[in-house]
Amino acid sequence: MKIQVKNIYKIFGNKPEAQLGKVKAGMGKEALLDETGHTLGLNDISLDIEEGQIFVIMGLSGSGKSTLIRHFNRLIEPTDGHIIINGQDVMALPERELEDFRRHKISMVFQRFGLLPHKSVLDNTAYGLQIQGVGKAERAEKAGYWLEQVGLKGFEEQYPHQLSGGMQQRVGLARALTTDPEILLMDEAFSALDPLIRREMQDQLLELQQKLHKTIVFITHDLDEALRLGDRIAILRDGELVQVGSPEEILLKPADDYVQAFVQDVNRARVLTASHVLAPAKLTVTLKSKPQQAVELLKEHSSEYACVLDGTQLKGLITVLDAQRALNDNADSLANYLSSVESVRSDTELEQILPNILSNNGAPIAVTGKDGGFKGWVSCEKLISLVA
Ligand SMILES: Nc1ncnc2c1ncn2[C@@H]1O[C@H](COP(=O)(O)OP(=O)(O)OP(=O)(O)O)[C@@H](O)[C@H]1O
Ligand SMILES: [Mg+2]
Repeated sequence: MKIQVKNIYKIFGNKPEAQLGKVKAGMGKEALLDETGHTLGLNDISLDIEEGQIFVIMGLSGSGKSTLIRHFNRLIEPTDGHIIINGQDVMALPERELEDFRRHKISMVFQRFGLLPHKSVLDNTAYGLQIQGVGKAERAEKAGYWLEQVGLKGFEEQYPHQLSGGMQQRVGLARALTTDPEILLMDEAFSALDPLIRREMQDQLLELQQKLHKTIVFITHDLDEALRLGDRIAILRDGELVQVGSPEEILLKPADDYVQAFVQDVNRARVLTASHVLAPAKLTVTLKSKPQQAVELLKEHSSEYACVLDGTQLKGLITVLDAQRALNDNADSLANYLSSVESVRSDTELEQILPNILSNNGAPIAVTGKDGGFKGWVSCEKLISLVA
C-alpha cells in the first residue's frame, strides 16, 4: 500500500483543536462556521491509495480536494489523523527527512503550470534536480530525456512565454517526472487547458503511466476526466468522503444524489473504454498444446471454446468441434484448426466497440494491451449495464 489516509480532520481558524470535539460529535461544516467561525476543510477522511494507481479525487469547488492532496507532502498539517506513506507516518518525519521526502519521493504538477519565467524550458525541467544538488551535465541529460518523453524535444532553449498552455503544462509534467518521484500529485493539472489539448494530455499521461506505474493522485472536478484517468475515484462533498470506487461503481451505483448529479450528464460510451468492460478469459490453452489436451479441457469445463495463446499473444480460438477434428486428424498441434477472433485495444472507446459487437453476431471480441498481449474479452453484459 502506498498512501494511507487515516481519519484526517482539518479545521481552519484560530483555534482548530478546540473545535475538534464538536466536529467529532457530528457538527457539520455550515454549523461549525456559524457557531465558531471555523471552516471545516476535511471531516474524518480515510482512504487507501494503492501503489501504481491513478487515484482521482473529485468534488465541487470548496469540497476539500486541494486541502486533502496538500496533506500528502505535508504542505498542510492535519488537525487530527495520520498520513502514512510506504509505512512511514509523514507527520512523524523530522524536518530533514521531510525535506528529503519532498525532494525525492513526491512531485506536484500545478494547475497554472508554475514555471519560472526567466529560466529556459530545460532549466525549468531540471529545477528539482538542481535543488537536489545534481551536477549540470546529469541534469541536462535527464531533463532532456523527459522533455523528449512529453513531446518537447527541440524546445529546450525556449522560455515559458514562447510556449502554448498545453506545452507549458507538458514542461510541468516533465519537471515533475525528472526527479523520478514515486508519487505524483496533480491538482487540477489539466483544467486550464482547452478541451482538445486537455484530452491529448490525458492520453499522454495514460501512455506514460503504462510504462511508469507511478502512484498518481489526480484532482479534477470533471467526471469525464475522472473516468478516463482513474483506476479509483473518491468523491468529496463539504469535506466529507461520499464515495470511493472504480469508475464502473461510481457510474452504476452512485452513493447519493450528489454523485448522481455528476453522473447523469456523462457520455459513457465516449469516456469508458474496453478496459472498463473487460472479462477475464475462462479457458486458455497454448499454441503448443496437443489436440488431446484441448479436447479434455473443453469437455471438463463444458466449454464451447478456449483461447489459444502463444506467449502473451492471442492466436485465435479453438472450438470443441475443431479440437476434435485435430485429434481425429492426428495433428501435432492446434495451429491449423484455429478460428480467428476480432480484437480491440484496451484503450478503445466503447463508442467504437458497439458497432463491432452488433456486426459480430455475438462472437466474442478480444481485448489486447498496447503490446498486443491478450487481456480478456469484452463482456457484453458489462457493456450493456454501463451504456444502456
Ligand atoms: N488556508 C485556508 N484558510 C481557511 N479556509 C481554507 C483554507 N484553505 C481552504 N479553506 C477552506 O477549506 C475548504 C476546502 O477548500 P479546498 O481549497 O480544499 O477546496 P477544493 O475542493 O480544492 O476547491 P476548488 O475546486 O475550488 O479548488 C473550503 O471551504 C475553503 O474555504
Ligand atoms: Mg482546489
